[in-house]
Amino acid sequence: MNHSQSLPEPSADALSHSKKLVNAIRAEIENSNVNTITFRRYMEMALYQPELGYYVAGMHKIGEQGDFTTAPEISSLFSKCIAKQCAKILHKVGGCHNQACVLELGAGSGKMASDLLLELEQLDQLPKRYYILDLSPDLIHRQQQTIKDFAPHLYKLVEWIDQLPQNLNGVILGNEVLDAMPVDVFTQNGQDVYEHHVLWSEESESLVEQLRPANEKLKQQVIDLKIQSDTPYTSELNPNLNGWFKTLSESLQSGLVLLIDYGYTHKEYYLPERNKGTLICHYQHLVNEAPLKYPGLQDITANVDFTAVAEASNEAGFKVAGFTSQVHFLTNTGLEEYFMQALNDQPNDETYQYQLAQQIRTLSLPAEMGERFKCIALTKHTKGQTDMASDESLIGFGQFDQRFRL
Ligand SMILES: C[S@@+](CC[C@H](N)C(=O)[O-])C[C@H]1O[C@@H](n2cnc3c(N)ncnc32)[C@H](O)[C@@H]1O
Repeated sequence: MNHSQSLPEPSADALSHSKKLVNAIRAEIENSNVNTITFRRYMEMALYQPELGYYVAGMHKIGEQGDFTTAPEISSLFSKCIAKQCAKILHKVGGCHNQACVLELGAGSGKMASDLLLELEQLDQLPKRYYILDLSPDLIHRQQQTIKDFAPHLYKLVEWIDQLPQNLNGVILGNEVLDAMPVDVFTQNGQDVYEHHVLWSEESESLVEQLRPANEKLKQQVIDLKIQSDTPYTSELNPNLNGWFKTLSESLQSGLVLLIDYGYTHKEYYLPERNKGTLICHYQHLVNEAPLKYPGLQDITANVDFTAVAEASNEAGFKVAGFTSQVHFLTNTGLEEYFMQALNDQPNDETYQYQLAQQIRTLSLPAEMGERFKCIALTKHTKGQTDMASDESLIGFGQFDQRFRL
């Protein structure tokens, strides 16, 4: 991934699309009492404004040709490992008649869904239903096409939903969903806490950031972070985690929530030296720190504070049953065996073998995704069932469980 200060000029169509979103943002700013909107609201509009936001409008692309790549796009072996973990839970909560379901949140291109279904079929553990909940109509269309192309005979198991199902037994999955949630951006300077807002500057004819004294709630949340810094310190927090986990908890009756994302424990997230925060943008595989540039055309994302995830999920009734880095999760779920199997599938094709080796490196090397990405397991079990965390079903966390770090 390359860092860049100057971005390639978007096409005229793309610019005109972005202008429409800027106008919607300006209208909201002008209608507000203070002539600004919070950064969090800006991020929400930039990513999810109906018909215009980055994830909604179809301007963005996941994968090699797009703005960023995710693990399921890099290698099917990633989803096979996830499938192996899912199979254990589906078997446990679904009983012999396979009554358990999978719900994938934010399913991207649909690659993980199709690879996962194919592997669950191999493992003889297909779910009763594979639900997908996504906020993007464009991506839903793409997911449907991908599953029709790669796993047509399993398409009938998939159902796209716009609300969380009731009484779900099984697995809820989210790869890189948490990092796509809008965050509050703040700056702490001694005793003072400021919230980042966005306003329209007539002078520069552009959206600009402004710091305003934080309201009492945000101020307290920032003070509770106990950041140690002698200089102004800018970072983010996600205030929606509690509400989000509450809705997941209401939906999941028994089973596992498995979330994979890039991020840190609380202590690492708010280190004194990380005083510019973790918010970044992706545009055509260039990383930049200009979230107000080209709204609607680039992804805006913040790292995940996994301690906050653990606390919010705990409060919502989940048990934090495992936490480890992606490389350990994949090793525990058989990445090496899957790699050997794949090599044996085409023993004479050196290009294919080289590509496979590259995929494994990207997924597991510490400097690539191996350590930057973490997996967290949150479980719930119904009365009479054994606690998932205390039996053998959480294979992905069997070794190198690092919950003590949270
Ligand atoms: C970075 S993409 C990851 C896509 C895919 N999981 C992958 O790994 O390729 C983030 C996805 O999360 C979705 N998303 C964000 N917030 C969500 C929420 N609250 N519920 C469901 N999906 C959400 C977005 O629409 C987008 O599809």
